[in-house]
Amino acid sequence: MKSFWTDTVRRLTPYVPGEQRRGADIVKLNTNENPYPPSPKVIEAIQAVGSDALQRYPDPESAKLRQALADYHDLDISQVFVGNGSDEILALAFLAYFTNGKSLQFPDISYSFYPVYCDLYGIKPATIPLEPDYSLNLDRFEANAGGIIFPNPNAPTGCDVPGQAIEDLLTRHTDQVLLVDEAYADFGATSVVPLIKQFPNLLVSHTFSKGRSLAGMRLGVAFGDAHLIDGLQRVKNSFNSYPVDVLAQAAGVASINDESYYRQTLGTIMQTRAACVANLQARGFQVLPSAANFVFARAPEGDAKGLFDRLNNAGILVRYWPVERLDERLRITIGTPAQMQVLMNCLDA
Ligand SMILES: Cc1ncc(COP(=O)(O)O)c(C=O)c1O
Repeated sequence: MKSFWTDTVRRLTPYVPGEQRRGADIVKLNTNENPYPPSPKVIEAIQAVGSDALQRYPDPESAKLRQALADYHDLDISQVFVGNGSDEILALAFLAYFTNGKSLQFPDISYSFYPVYCDLYGIKPATIPLEPDYSLNLDRFEANAGGIIFPNPNAPTGCDVPGQAIEDLLTRHTDQVLLVDEAYADFGATSVVPLIKQFPNLLVSHTFSKGRSLAGMRLGVAFGDAHLIDGLQRVKNSFNSYPVDVLAQAAGVASINDESYYRQTLGTIMQTRAACVANLQARGFQVLPSAANFVFARAPEGDAKGLFDRLNNAGILVRYWPVERLDERLRITIGTPAQMQVLMNCLDA
């Protein structure tokens, strides 16, 4: 059959998200979603969106939501961008800042969407090896490349780097954009959002998918100097003027305005994480220090694949990668205490 694909499409190796198996008995610990529902105020706000609002296009500037985020972080609205999940923001950012003919630096073990975007746009990746203990040494990034991106905390390791180390990196690297992907920063890492006032080459991405329980809503945010944000706006407005729909804008504002619910959920997840680490260690796992809503744990005897299959057959979904340095480990999302107990029971069976 004749193929109408372009060479770019033929060359792509698309990102593969974690399995979305559903069912009452499934314990889903594989895509780092929040095990708790969004704030009741978010549900109320969505229900209050009238049919007239659905009939019209949403505000293309998402002004109320961006203003709420600006107020929350003590920024100006011109320093805030919102998109259809932070994945979309990353895609726009790669096009806006990294298609500059130079290589893009990111850790060799990191979010697997970065090399996919590189492929899509023809950006040359320059991977920076993690240290033997899976930590990221920021001194390894070079000055003359086309940009830097890393998640903080990193995925799938969960390890974070201190804010001061990122500030030092920014002081050394003023000629390339540094994108810090803070998808998991809610769960204990230091956010560098305040540094955007000082460093015009810093972009920080956040998501409502993890700490704010809104993965299904698709809502992401970027914070940066107004000039960087303007670059994102230009790409967005050359692609899709309305990436954030009217329900997501209302949900986002309501979520930002319910700080106590958000803090309470995060606190519970962090407590459950501490218990989970102790319980896994008691069963012979080696667990990397996690500042995220998941842990990356080496299975006893390194038999992560055997364990993955056993858990999967029991309806407990976790993440496993048959790749060097990852293949003895499982990434386990922190669920409710009851879900973690089901996991421990299965490990003990
Ligand atoms: C490191 C990292 N960044 C970004 C994302 C994308 O999140 P979303 O598109 O749901 O905002 C994820 C999702 O798992 C992630 O792990």
